[in-house]
Amino acid sequence: MTTVLLTGATGYIGSHTWLALQEAGFSVVGLDNFSNSSPEVLKRLHELSGVAPVFERASITDAAAMEAVFSRHRIDAVVHFAASKAVGESGAQPLAYYANNIGGLVTTCEAMRRHGVKTMVFSSSATVYGDPKYLPYDEAHPLSAMNVYGRTKLYGEQILRDLEASDPAWKIAWLRYFNPVGAHESGRIGEDPRGVPNNLMPYVTQVAVGRREFLQVFGGDYDTVDGTGVRDYLHVVDLAEGHVAALRHLLDQRRSLTVNLGAGHGHSVLQLVRAFERASGRPVPYRIVDRRPGDLPAFWADATLARQQLGWQTRRDLETMCADSWRWQQANPNGFDC
Ligand code: UFG
Repeated sequence: MTTVLLTGATGYIGSHTWLALQEAGFSVVGLDNFSNSSPEVLKRLHELSGVAPVFERASITDAAAMEAVFSRHRIDAVVHFAASKAVGESGAQPLAYYANNIGGLVTTCEAMRRHGVKTMVFSSSATVYGDPKYLPYDEAHPLSAMNVYGRTKLYGEQILRDLEASDPAWKIAWLRYFNPVGAHESGRIGEDPRGVPNNLMPYVTQVAVGRREFLQVFGGDYDTVDGTGVRDYLHVVDLAEGHVAALRHLLDQRRSLTVNLGAGHGHSVLQLVRAFERASGRPVPYRIVDRRPGDLPAFWADATLARQQLGWQTRRDLETMCADSWRWQQANPNGFDC
């Protein structure tokens, strides 16, 4: 059986990918330091999969701890989620972001190299495309970054390209995510941001459940269908299945790849709000306020390459994303803090 080390395993995307990997027949070792997630996730994963989670509590920046993890388990491949991801915070704390996202990546790769593990799936982001020169973004679109978080992803991609160039035994999947939303259909795991949510969907669900009064829509005068920002939302379970497909590709084809993981089309903020109201039967009061500094008006993926290379495409529509986000939020009004 192929054993996969998941870093950032109890986070939002990590936890859904954990289940998807198990369903696909992989054995998983999860690793997290709970800096932005809860141990409760492990109980929920046990309940959902029927398998007791194999878990290591460690930081990816702790070289001795990473060495110990690779010594204790026979790891075949790594899916590397662990990273900090708040754009605003990244500008205020650049060193913390570089230490975790870059230092942690290097430490993880060093442990892998020492143990002869040279297969990695890397969480990158559509943010590496920067200001759109054209849309949809395809994988050949020029790269640039507009904030510290984005630079950690851009530099992280480059570090892995240098590593692969130095030793072609490395097989790496650079996955550029668009905007993941939704939750596992059971409603037992989902997105549980700490503090005030930065992202749209968790804010919407917290308004609907009564934790927040109204949504602030950042900008109503963009050159888009209704003046509000447009993004490529995809269901987190589709995204998780994209990781399984990418890992299989690396293991079977022995070829690296760079692909967008997105739906291939965009929705505006107000389109998402209306879909959410339909799916939940709850009103989502909102006010249109100033644009958020640094936001792009619109972007979405060209999702052709993922379909061609991985046979992967999104299967769950916006209604399903909203219904599943709502099921999760309603059953867990305070997230994993129950
Ligand atoms: N938005 C609101 N109100 C909110 C939150 C968001 O109107 O309270 C709007 C934004 O202006 C944007 C859209 O909803 O138009 C989506 O915003 P998100 O913050 O959910 O997502 P972003 O596309 O801005 O950011 C995401 C990731 C970042 C990543 C970026 C680019 O959260 O980590 O995509 O890939 F850098």
